[in-house]
Amino acid sequence: MKVMLAPMEGVVDHLMRDMLTRVGGFDQCVTEFVRVVDQKLPKKTFYRLCPELHNGGKTPSGVPVRVQLLGQHPKWLAENAQTAVELGSPGVDLNFGCPAKTVNKSKGGAVLLKETQTLYDIVKAVRDAVPAEIPVSAKIRLGFEDKSLAVENAVAITEAGASELVVHARTKTEGYKPPAYWDWIAKIKQHTNIPLVANGEIWSAEDAQRCQEQSECTNLMVGRGALAMPNLALCIKGRQAPMPWPELAALLIQYSGYEIFGDKGRYYPNRIKQWCGYLKRQYPEAELLFNDIRRLTNSQDIVEVLARQADS
Ligand SMILES: Cc1cc2nc3c(=O)[nH]c(=O)nc-3n(C[C@H](O)[C@H](O)[C@H](O)COP(=O)(O)O)c2cc1C
Repeated sequence: MKVMLAPMEGVVDHLMRDMLTRVGGFDQCVTEFVRVVDQKLPKKTFYRLCPELHNGGKTPSGVPVRVQLLGQHPKWLAENAQTAVELGSPGVDLNFGCPAKTVNKSKGGAVLLKETQTLYDIVKAVRDAVPAEIPVSAKIRLGFEDKSLAVENAVAITEAGASELVVHARTKTEGYKPPAYWDWIAKIKQHTNIPLVANGEIWSAEDAQRCQEQSECTNLMVGRGALAMPNLALCIKGRQAPMPWPELAALLIQYSGYEIFGDKGRYYPNRIKQWCGYLKRQYPEAELLFNDIRRLTNSQDIVEVLARQADS
């Protein structure tokens, strides 16, 4: 079984990928999306979103990180895919799931799920542009407003030569509201032979098992669940029980070190509050912590609160 860490713009950056892959259980990561409009982007854009390119395309603990591209023009996506691979990305992922309005205005992400032919053209152009041994994956939702094109889109992506397809089992309109329709992945599976990865609403080992049964898909991708429980991938693989709170508080302190001394120091107070928002789902202690740090804007003050949590 492969467990992948989901791309999450503004949340799962290289520091979060480093931390979560150190905790363990993840087999692969995907970057936040690189937005491609109508030009070849400078190398620095790729290095900014994927500093792991300086490390052979792997996190410090050795987990491969695939660059994700988002856009509508096959030619420009293909050219930028080439750059990503030249810089060392071990694969290219194409985002056909992003619901953000600003992205849709410039066309990219989920809106393309209404245009099966465009999906085909993009995947084909990118597949043709990068060496055959480099995987080209796509990440879709089940549709934009409804699921009527779910199978057709998956078939087009397969015929265009994609190596793997991640399915977030909801439409764009369904947003992030439970449930995820895992059984639709099984429907897609009946019509394609592309390796599938099931995604959406996996918060525990039990969810993972139900998802595998309903989707008939072994490989999984987890996003918010991994933030709510950092050792979720190990729990899914049956190697660990959910991490106890004191261990998690220690991890938060470690993350604080990364964030403050990494390149994101000024974002730290907001980042840690954002992460607490996800942790609240699994840990009641995170709610109390959030209340304690809610008004703090100074990083050092926040770290002091965390240190007290880890000692308690
Ligand atoms: C804050 C946030 C940012 C996201 N950013 C991306 C992104 O950049 N690329 C992408 O393909 N999906 C993105 N997603 C979707 C996730 O990768 C994933 O498909 C979704 O959260 C469902 O999985 P989960 O229930 O395990 O979180 C994002 C989701 C969230 C909540």
